[in-house]
Amino acid sequence: MKLTWMRLGPFIVGLLLASCESPTMAQPFPEPAALPQTTQLPDPLVMLKGQPVETSQQWRDERRPELKALFQHYMYGVPPPTPKNVSWKLERDDAHYFGGKATKKEVTVRFGPPQTPAIHLLLVIPNKRRGPAPCFVGLNFCGNHALVDDPAIPLPDVWMPDHCPGCRDGKAAEAGRGTQKDVWALEQSIDRGYAVATCYCGDIDPDKNDFTDGVHPHFGSRGSATRGPHDWGTIAAWAWGLSRCADYLVADKDLDPRRMIVVGHSRLGKTALLAGALDERFAIVIPHQAGCGGSAPNRKTGDALQKAESVKRINTAFPHWFCDEFKKFNDEVDRLPFDQHCLIALCAPRPVLLTNAVDDQWADPDGQFQMLQGADPVYRLLGSEGLDQKSRPELDMLISGPLGYFIHGGKHSMTPDDWRVFMNYADKQFAATP
Ligand code: GCU
Repeated sequence: MKLTWMRLGPFIVGLLLASCESPTMAQPFPEPAALPQTTQLPDPLVMLKGQPVETSQQWRDERRPELKALFQHYMYGVPPPTPKNVSWKLERDDAHYFGGKATKKEVTVRFGPPQTPAIHLLLVIPNKRRGPAPCFVGLNFCGNHALVDDPAIPLPDVWMPDHCPGCRDGKAAEAGRGTQKDVWALEQSIDRGYAVATCYCGDIDPDKNDFTDGVHPHFGSRGSATRGPHDWGTIAAWAWGLSRCADYLVADKDLDPRRMIVVGHSRLGKTALLAGALDERFAIVIPHQAGCGGSAPNRKTGDALQKAESVKRINTAFPHWFCDEFKKFNDEVDRLPFDQHCLIALCAPRPVLLTNAVDDQWADPDGQFQMLQGADPVYRLLGSEGLDQKSRPELDMLISGPLGYFIHGGKHSMTPDDWRVFMNYADKQFAATP
């Protein structure tokens, strides 16, 4: 990656020359109905046309680009290239946050054609540290104002779902302030030496089946009626937005660009995994309870057939999350030329931690463990440690290798206990990195 930046008065402008390659054209891949059916997991080390992948160079030069293109073509849709005009502005800072333990920054990140909505990034950075801080980065569900008691943080002015605390008629309200402090556990991260950067997912694309808002209309999609089968869905847009956040974060001198951890819960965990798979600047990838369309298999077996979310169900309930081509697999998931272990493998050799809760069978915790096992050969081909465990670990036992796993009692939520695990894992992985 090559990065140029300069100061223009209060503005810091970043020019991104190349950060993460993304194909812009649909690929000449077969129609779903012409793909072979296989109940087995497709081998991540065999090319679509059957050639084996035997060296790390073949993986990097041939199979990795092919898999990225396959996921974009059949599942998430094709994102636009990195815009050349990513810029940012520090709106507010406060060096006395959390009783002086942290510095807050509120940064507006702009990109694309003039009317493209901006990303409003909230950053907290520990004041006590040696050198630039490692940083968690992820999207939040209900706005930055919900994560901390701070009247200075503006309410999002874009659509927000009414189930967000304090939200009424699709609009955030004062009543939502500080109502989700535990979900992002900002102060706890500061106490452990980690910075956190987050923005409201709706800044990038409001979570509804409507392609006339968010980033979509500014990058070629003109609404649902005119969409092509491979046009990017909401999860691809969110992941691409995380990369725009990263464009800023790698230039912030208070942060360590080599220690960015992308994290997210549930639909935003699916997003974190996709962002980590496509953008190698994310050093660690933590999809929390990401489930179907993220870290759980599309090909279900055993109990998961009854208990876990299926491709058909997710495409029906959330038709905007993926590209339209993905719907063609609703009744034929066995034709997918990949499964989600290949998305994990795209992160290799960077560490990936899948975290789960026992009562969240909808997210298929057992199937997720199998996805780690499926990615193992790619990690080993690249000379990394793989996954030695043959079965899912006991509750509360962290598998802390590059293919990490954790499950505890509890339900579908992200809590301070989960953050403790994320940080234990990151501590371990960063200590292992030279
Ligand atoms: C629903 C959906 C899941 C998703 C979850 C969430 O349960 O079926 O796929 O992960 O919402 O984002 O909370």
